[in-house]
Amino acid sequence: MKIAIGSDHGGFELKEEIRAHLESQGMEVLDVGTNSKDSVDYPLYGFRVGEALNKGQADLGIVVCGTGLGISMAANKVPGIRAAVCTETYSARMAREHNNANVLALGGRVTGVGLALDIVDIFIKTPFAGGRHARRVDLITTIEKGESL
Ligand code: RB5
Repeated sequence: MKIAIGSDHGGFELKEEIRAHLESQGMEVLDVGTNSKDSVDYPLYGFRVGEALNKGQADLGIVVCGTGLGISMAANKVPGIRAAVCTETYSARMAREHNNANVLALGGRVTGVGLALDIVDIFIKTPFAGGRHARRVDLITTIEKGESL
């Protein structure tokens, strides 16, 4: 399993914690930045993580900004990306199981490290349930293509 991670300055410290956590579990991590607490623009890093997934460079992505909101909005503009902001573990499980989310978004100024790492673990280990949920996710793709429902 390869995970692409990215953050702005508001999510930098949590991103670093997540990278260390994933690597300690033997996972391969593609870190698209940022690489310091210097102020940067979150859309770039949401875009980079989305692009990494679309290029087949990673299986899932994790994006972090101050709230998880701006960077998830940016990632969700990349075709094929379904980014879900999660502040607790139930949503993280449902984001994978029901929504087939391929990017987890976290808020570095919202969620503490311990909970964030639990959210990461659950997001990564939960498979998509398919079935009726696949039909619904396909409808999201239809909207993304600019088609009417
Ligand atoms: C940066 O100050 C902050 O706006 C950003 O990290 C994020 O929270 C935006 O949604």
